[in-house]
Amino acid sequence: MTDTDKIYIFDTTLRDGEQSAGISFTMDEKVEIARQLARLNVDIIEAGFPATSPGDREAIAAIAREVKGPVIAGLARAVHSDIDTAYEAVRGAESPRIHVFISSSEIHMGQQLHKHKEDVLEMARSAVAHAKKYVSDVEFSPMDATRSDRTFLYDIVRAAIAEGATTINIPDTVGYAIPSEFEDLIRSIRKNVPESEAIRISVHCQNDLGMATANSLAGILGGARQVEGTINGIGERAGNAALEEVVLAIKTRADFMNVHTDVVTREFYTASKLVERLSGMALQPHKAVVGKNAFRHSSGIHQDGILKMRETYEIMDPETIGIPAGDSIVLTKVSGSHAVRARLADLAVHPTDEEFARIFAAFKDVADAKDEVDDRDLMAIISEQTQIQVTDAWTLDLVQVSSSDHGAPTASVRLVDANGKLHQDAAIGTGPVDAIYQAINRVTGMKNELTEFSVKSVTEGIDAQGEVTIRVQTDGGTYQGRAADTDILVASARAYLHALNRAIAAASR
Ligand code: KIV
Repeated sequence: MTDTDKIYIFDTTLRDGEQSAGISFTMDEKVEIARQLARLNVDIIEAGFPATSPGDREAIAAIAREVKGPVIAGLARAVHSDIDTAYEAVRGAESPRIHVFISSSEIHMGQQLHKHKEDVLEMARSAVAHAKKYVSDVEFSPMDATRSDRTFLYDIVRAAIAEGATTINIPDTVGYAIPSEFEDLIRSIRKNVPESEAIRISVHCQNDLGMATANSLAGILGGARQVEGTINGIGERAGNAALEEVVLAIKTRADFMNVHTDVVTREFYTASKLVERLSGMALQPHKAVVGKNAFRHSSGIHQDGILKMRETYEIMDPETIGIPAGDSIVLTKVSGSHAVRARLADLAVHPTDEEFARIFAAFKDVADAKDEVDDRDLMAIISEQTQIQVTDAWTLDLVQVSSSDHGAPTASVRLVDANGKLHQDAAIGTGPVDAIYQAINRVTGMKNELTEFSVKSVTEGIDAQGEVTIRVQTDGGTYQGRAADTDILVASARAYLHALNRAIAAASR
């Protein structure tokens, strides 16, 4: 296939993905995700929206400095000050891009911007020209394109190209398009703005009606050569096109799509788990491509078919996505570090030596409590042990709970502060987890409200690890915490401390 058949993959997990309600990545988390996106070999990483906060600017600049390979993009409204800020953030990148947007639909221009078409056209022109003074790679998006008047859309696209935009992105901002209609829109832009043959057309589809992946593929059939999306499809409202779905559809149906990507699909599972962990947005089991059930077969007829030939009921090989091969490798407490390291490499996990030492120690703890440690246990251990060590403000030394069907549950906790000093206290609560959290609150003195608590089993069986995900609300914002242990009360305590430590780290910044 030629380069004209290549679909450029633009990942916006760190920008549109972070716009999901309840998601806020720390700077270190953003860099870690960007590194995994580079391993995935996406073409462009939209690292953030620099004008929104100094924290975002700092994180984008760090990614621009540290993450090599993909183009690093920063989003900007069509105003000069936003573009100046975006340039400051991305300028350290090997290949920087400024992505400028302004709304082009009547409803956005009239009700939100309070501007006439002529003003918007002029703002788009001036913004692209301004961005072009800084970088050669400029992307322009007419926001809410799918609800825009087509003639005006052609005009604004033509104007942006005339000022030097090298990518024109057509966003289905509110997830309104129907696939055949969207394909026709992309074709009509190419037909009515012949200048667009010299640049790359991109599509950016939201999932409000569950059609983001379908619309992205329709856009490609219409002639788009860049697709924007996020890992696990996180994003505003119902989310964005899930990149793992778009890329695997292109790969699996290459016979029909006649295009390809340069994505290293084997890195998707690790990317998905990383984003799930750091965003705190748990995947539904039946999520396409990366969900827990995506390659599990329960009906007898299907199992029979799979046992005879995998392809009878599987259109993709789970290994191409990097999905652990289930119970094929079983590690036990007698397994050594070489075996664990080799298994991590098979899972496309690349810990530093320091991380590996923590993973191996945690593996031994789990192996002591369970007969067998399978790949799903390993992924839970990896999640926790490679978690960014945000601060050492508080660590758990001991948690002890007494609970019965009569009387109030009581918990006592012993925590270690940043100076290594032990602090101990006890409390009663409405349940054992509440008692632990009350005791931790007494030690740390931190005011907060628990807004979400969920526990799920990592594997089957009575000795399974429980993975706890929580969110707490403090004066400074919402913070997520996560931990896994064969004892769910210990996991609950550690997840809570993880969230509090993140809140402390954010407050000190
Ligand atoms: O959904 C949207 O329109 C966007 C643009 C900024 C591309 O996110």
